[in-house]
Amino acid sequence: MKDIAVVGIGLIKWGELWEKSFRDMCVEAALACLEDAGTDRVDAVTIGTMTTGIFVGQEHLDSIIPDYLGRRLTPAIRVESACSSGGMAVRGAFVEVASGLSDFVLAIGVEKMTDISGAEATYALATAADQENEAFHGVTFPGLYAMMARAHMHRYGTSRDQLAQVAVKNHHNGSLNTYAQFPFEVTLDAVKRSTMVADPLRLLDCSPITDGAAAVLLAPVEEARKLGKKPLVKITGVGNATDTIALAHRHDLLRLEAVEMATQRALGMAGKKIEDIDFAEVHDCFTIAEIMVLEAMGVVEPGRGGPATAEGMTALDGSFPVNPSGGLKSKGHPVGATGVAQICEAVTQLRGEAEKRQIPGARSALTQNMGGSGASCVVHILEVES
Ligand code: COA
Repeated sequence: MKDIAVVGIGLIKWGELWEKSFRDMCVEAALACLEDAGTDRVDAVTIGTMTTGIFVGQEHLDSIIPDYLGRRLTPAIRVESACSSGGMAVRGAFVEVASGLSDFVLAIGVEKMTDISGAEATYALATAADQENEAFHGVTFPGLYAMMARAHMHRYGTSRDQLAQVAVKNHHNGSLNTYAQFPFEVTLDAVKRSTMVADPLRLLDCSPITDGAAAVLLAPVEEARKLGKKPLVKITGVGNATDTIALAHRHDLLRLEAVEMATQRALGMAGKKIEDIDFAEVHDCFTIAEIMVLEAMGVVEPGRGGPATAEGMTALDGSFPVNPSGGLKSKGHPVGATGVAQICEAVTQLRGEAEKRQIPGARSALTQNMGGSGASCVVHILEVES
């Protein structure tokens, strides 16, 4: 298997982008990525998107995106794995380059969510829940995560303030990120007084509805060297796992076993332990999600996610910074694009180009992207070549 480098990254500013179509967003992110890479060579494309059919009435993105990129006849595959579609598209690109099938593979993530009403968007997202056991009974994703939050509070004593602290921290980081949808600070009090969505989760505990795209270009390390990429950022570990969709069928409502397994697989492949990782971009679709992911990845013991957050462990200047980009909470969550954008942030940090939100001396990163309430998960380990 070949060693893989990320030779280019491309983002657009996320938000409610009524003036841009999903095609425009993909093209803009892809062109930014190729400019960053210093090459226009693309041997194949992978596209991560959850449900453009419902959001904009267009499927068959594996044809339409290469066409609009001016690359008709390029091999392309569309990948769908709910909110982890983007991370899975990067994994697909990784596998294609590592196998030797293609050298330069462009992974694009996209979702255009604001062209339909909030109720319709909630329906679209709920197609990733278990229809017979969850969605048909009226449960939405805020509702599912609210149940996990309540159970976490009950078993471990996780407090309302600890949940809110995740949002406060991520909005602070996002206020330093010009690409973020909501680049402003929020206070603990503002989170706790924001509109109730699904008890105990309030508006500021939730990731938003977002339009956005992101792109990364992967290539074998020897090709990356020819481009003169310095510092060279490599993907050294990839882990993927799946679990039951329905929360009712989980062994334990408070364990994200797919996250545990995907993390172990990625770390094992990289030959690393979680203690060797300098920072992480994780899937904080709701504040409770970040807390549970920290526990599933082994960063802290079960039940310690809330206290560790409140103590500042995951802050930019903490011992294990989490979501320096602002995370899904502040940067936004255009579901198919999120996993690709996590790689963009990891590379930006590892190159030392993150400006005011730079984590000093960062050499290794973990990205964790999951679908639904943790039924699919993909983890990547990235390292700077020493
Ligand atoms: N964080 C911060 N501000 C937000 C926000 C969020 N998550 N969502 C909306 N806002 C702001 C809007 O900008 C708007 O501000 P304004 O009044 O100054 O213009 C205001 O709050 C109301 O926005 P609106 O779009 O009417 O909110 P909504 O009530 O329709 O939707 C949620 C809010 C939380 C229900 C919606 O964002 C949601 O469903 N989020 C979860 C998405 C999800 O499940 N993703 C998949 C995860 S698995």
